[in-house]
Amino acid sequence: MAPSDELLPAAPHLAEALRVLAEVARELTERGDPLEAESLGGAASALRAGTSEGRLWVGPKDEAVAVGLWEPPGEIGRDVRIVFARGFRGAAAIARLVRRLDGDGGPPIARFRLPGIPSEPGGLAEALAAQGFSPRERVDLVYPESAALPSVREVNGIRSLAVADEKAIARLLERAYADLPEERALFAVRRDPAEDARVAARKLIDGTYGDWWADASFGIDGPGGLAAATLVNDLHGPLLTEVMTDPAARGRGYASALIATSLAAVRRRRPPIPPRLVVSWENLPARRLYLALGFSPVEATRGRVWVRSGPAPAPSPSGRGGVPAGPPSTRQRAEGK
Ligand SMILES: CC(C)(COP(=O)(O)OP(=O)(O)OC[C@H]1O[C@@H](n2cnc3c(N)ncnc32)[C@H](O)[C@@H]1OP(=O)(O)O)[C@@H](O)C(=O)NCCC(=O)NCCS
Repeated sequence: MAPSDELLPAAPHLAEALRVLAEVARELTERGDPLEAESLGGAASALRAGTSEGRLWVGPKDEAVAVGLWEPPGEIGRDVRIVFARGFRGAAAIARLVRRLDGDGGPPIARFRLPGIPSEPGGLAEALAAQGFSPRERVDLVYPESAALPSVREVNGIRSLAVADEKAIARLLERAYADLPEERALFAVRRDPAEDARVAARKLIDGTYGDWWADASFGIDGPGGLAAATLVNDLHGPLLTEVMTDPAARGRGYASALIATSLAAVRRRRPPIPPRLVVSWENLPARRLYLALGFSPVEATRGRVWVRSGPAPAPSPSGRGGVPAGPPSTRQRAEGK
């Protein structure tokens, strides 16, 4: 392998890359986040199959100390997952690898996640902000089996969704997120939000995110098509993949009523694990609504997505410095932080 601080394509060094991925997946399982662990396992399989790309960061002992992985990038850039071996998770090391990946001549990083780094090292947010990234905190919320179904204000016009609603779902997706650019940035692949919404709607119902449970997915029609909807998929258990209300129809209790209806339909199927959803902690209307209805956060799943909020850097040579070798404090000093 190459000397310290080299960034190498992961595919020719598959065993090393898989070793780091497996180490972090084990930690995630032990910490109580089996879904993220499994998703990392999926990323490892994609790398093995050659359907995703990655880079491996070489450490002081000629070993992999971090791996960055991404699917084929969309128009707006790469969506990267970066995992670090134990002992290399200081702020300076993380920021440096992000900078190296971002400037490696490939498409810019649109967003990235750092699974396996539950408590953020001091100074990381500042270092990443300087590189043009802002955090969004994502957390799974679960609706406990023991909880009664939420009691909500009655709303008329709730109906089941069907495959034929794909276009209406796409149009609602586009409208519901039009006023939330930070939420859209978590999933955007293309520059055109309408095209992203069309693809997302198809994927929601075609099994890409697990089997679609049409019998637990509901909508309310309005003057311009669907005004609100909930969608449920079976992704390692029932997941409310979408909860959305047209901006013109908000505050009427639509989302509350649709969620309650979906939860009742999910219960009728008696799944072995309770329903959940994923929320951005910063998305206050959504967070407040879910907590008020009785969902509770699964703290082990809390993690940040770093979204590009500043301009992408011009590609540059690798620069000074290397993979720091000592414990975090030494490493930070070594990088002058
Ligand atoms: C989050 C979202 C789905 C809520 O939809 P909604 O239909 O407005 O939700 P509800 O009307 O059921 O409840 C929202 C609020 O209105 C209040 N409300 C409910 N019925 C009401 C009524 N008749 N009159 C006034 N307010 C009412 C609720 O108490 C709640 O108040 P809160 O903000 O203090 O919690 C909507 O804001 C949305 O689509 N956001 C964009 C997409 C999104 O972020 N989805 C979640 C992704 S995880």
